[in-house]
Amino acid sequence: MGKSQKTAFALAAAGLLVILALLVADIMRREATSPAAAPSRPDIGGAFSLVDMNGQNVTQAQYAGKNLLIYFGFTYCPDVCPMALMHMGGALNILAESAPQRAASVQPLFITVDPERDTPEALAEYMINFHPRLVGLTGSPEQIRDTLAVYRVYASKVMDEGASDYLMDHSSIIYLMDGENRYLAHFDHNLPAQELAALLQQKLP
Ligand code: NI
Repeated sequence: MGKSQKTAFALAAAGLLVILALLVADIMRREATSPAAAPSRPDIGGAFSLVDMNGQNVTQAQYAGKNLLIYFGFTYCPDVCPMALMHMGGALNILAESAPQRAASVQPLFITVDPERDTPEALAEYMINFHPRLVGLTGSPEQIRDTLAVYRVYASKVMDEGASDYLMDHSSIIYLMDGENRYLAHFDHNLPAQELAALLQQKLP
């Protein structure tokens, strides 16, 4: 091997080493950001701009520091929504007996998927049936649409057969968000209050 050949060989070897080092760094970087390495939170929930039962504008900032227990539905719902709200209210009452501070850290919210009929007044009348601290939120169709998107909630108008009225077909999930409005857990609306209370006790920070 001549001198220039040796230099070329050394350069090629050095080049290979650099490429190898870059590959290893890339793999390590990918592993560091992969879901397996760092448990990732589902991307559910975030900023919202709505109207409360007094007709006042509210955003998520209003509830900063509170763990939000949120259900999406509509007051004309014949069965599913009232059941979910009964379970939520019942669970909070049960939790209040065993862990009053934790129960107090929870703000229960009902966000309507039917802003046309669920006015602030209609919500106020409905919410008192379920829990004294339950707050109903509505808004313009655009505000509701944006909020549903942020929480990945599905809702669609369906005609009630034989009636002039409509119903809302909608996702029926109870969300638990932390004090920064970040997803903690979700629960089935069918869970009896006792079971929901036990899960809240487990999942609340
Ligand atoms: Ni419903």
